[in-house]
Amino acid sequence: MPTDAFKTAKLSFGDKTLDLPMQSPTAGPDVIDIRKLYALGDVFTYDPGFTSTAACESAITYIDGDKGELLYRGYPIDQLAEKSHFLEVCYILLYGELPDTAKLDDFVSRVTNHTMLHEQMHFFYRGFRRDAHPMAIICGVQGAMSSFYHDSIDISDPWQREVATIRMIAKMPTIVAWAYKYSVGQPFIYPRNDLDYASNFLQMCFAVPAEDYVVNPILSRAMDRIFTLHADHEQNASTSTVRLAGSSGANPFACIAAGIACLWGPAHGGANQACLEMLREIGTVDRIPEYIARAKDKDDPFRLMGFGHRVYKNFDPRAKVMKESADEVLGLLGIENNPTLQVAKELERIALEDPYFVEKKLYPNVDFYSGIILDAMGFPTSMFTPIFALARTVGWIAQWKEMMEDPTQKIGRPRQLYTGETSRDYVDIENRA
Ligand code: ACO
Repeated sequence: MPTDAFKTAKLSFGDKTLDLPMQSPTAGPDVIDIRKLYALGDVFTYDPGFTSTAACESAITYIDGDKGELLYRGYPIDQLAEKSHFLEVCYILLYGELPDTAKLDDFVSRVTNHTMLHEQMHFFYRGFRRDAHPMAIICGVQGAMSSFYHDSIDISDPWQREVATIRMIAKMPTIVAWAYKYSVGQPFIYPRNDLDYASNFLQMCFAVPAEDYVVNPILSRAMDRIFTLHADHEQNASTSTVRLAGSSGANPFACIAAGIACLWGPAHGGANQACLEMLREIGTVDRIPEYIARAKDKDDPFRLMGFGHRVYKNFDPRAKVMKESADEVLGLLGIENNPTLQVAKELERIALEDPYFVEKKLYPNVDFYSGIILDAMGFPTSMFTPIFALARTVGWIAQWKEMMEDPTQKIGRPRQLYTGETSRDYVDIENRA
């Protein structure tokens, strides 16, 4: 990104005044380039939670939180959700442009040919307790991929980076589906390369050897949309974790395992599970005011799950598509009067009119409706975050690759505002008061 020669920011403190260069992005606010701040001014900036700090340059995803806009490589998410499909979205995120038919066919075929896991990975699953959370399993299995695929961990080799990329996108559905099968005590179902990406995932989750399984195209389309809507979201916590892990030169499988671990938290990817559990706990529409009151009570740690977002201060554009999908899927399954959906719709209506949520710009986020769809499809709540991880894998890899290809990339190493003791002498145990 070129420095804008005409723009500088003046920073005065003590007896110093510094002129800091500014950079203009293609969209979004200008940034003040503080890379030389410590060298010139002997000060750090302090920004826990990175609310005002751009940690990298990226050309992949753009969010306008005020407008409620999300673009993958410039393409609006609602257009992609309506007209594209997940593997094309993967291509766009990874390579930057819409593919022509030959390029798309080639990409789809490369991903499809890598869907199987190394056969010895079966044994690896058996090391987990039967009741292990699938996030724990996929985090472990993803990390273990580096020990199964030695030929794609040399991060300095662009070809190996590409092979690792294809492998992770191709194998994540198998890894996640097998974590589910393991938890319910059913045999692992192998991938079927005659099916599209989403249908194959559904059959690996829900088919059993004892009978035929036919994938419902409406459910497969809804699954594909969920993948598309979760594919990337610029520098969120898990993506930043992947970048930070990658900045040390760690192998790509280890970096994605770090991203999965970060995604697990309820303030991030774990919110979809927490949201459905909350909707079930509320149970009936008449109990909503009680929960709204709790969410507003400063002395109560309860928050409305699926509401609020660090960046969106308007409707999360993904939530709009998700709501449509929820209506479609529940309609297809003949359960449109599902009490959880009724509670969700009424909760959304009330919260959007309540001054607390209006003033704080707390709108439903992507997690608000995704759990309802996944629940209707037959997934237990513990599978919601693994499905998010499956979809986000492409975003993590695209961001990791972009960082690896950036010649200015350095190891990530934040500074701190130290508030501990200053230097003091060690006291032998017998002399301590
Ligand atoms: N319910 C009630 N109050 C809320 C909520 C909520 N869901 N979210 C934020 N607030 C309030 C906070 O109490 C705070 O109030 P205050 O200013 O009076 O102290 C104010 O809104 C700002 O909240 P912060 O926590 O400072 O906002 P931040 O940007 O750090 O947090 C977050 C964003 C973590 C998503 C938050 O809104 C939240 O916890 N939401 C619920 C969990 C959730 O749905 N997470 C999914 C995020 S999307 C994703 O990862 C795919």
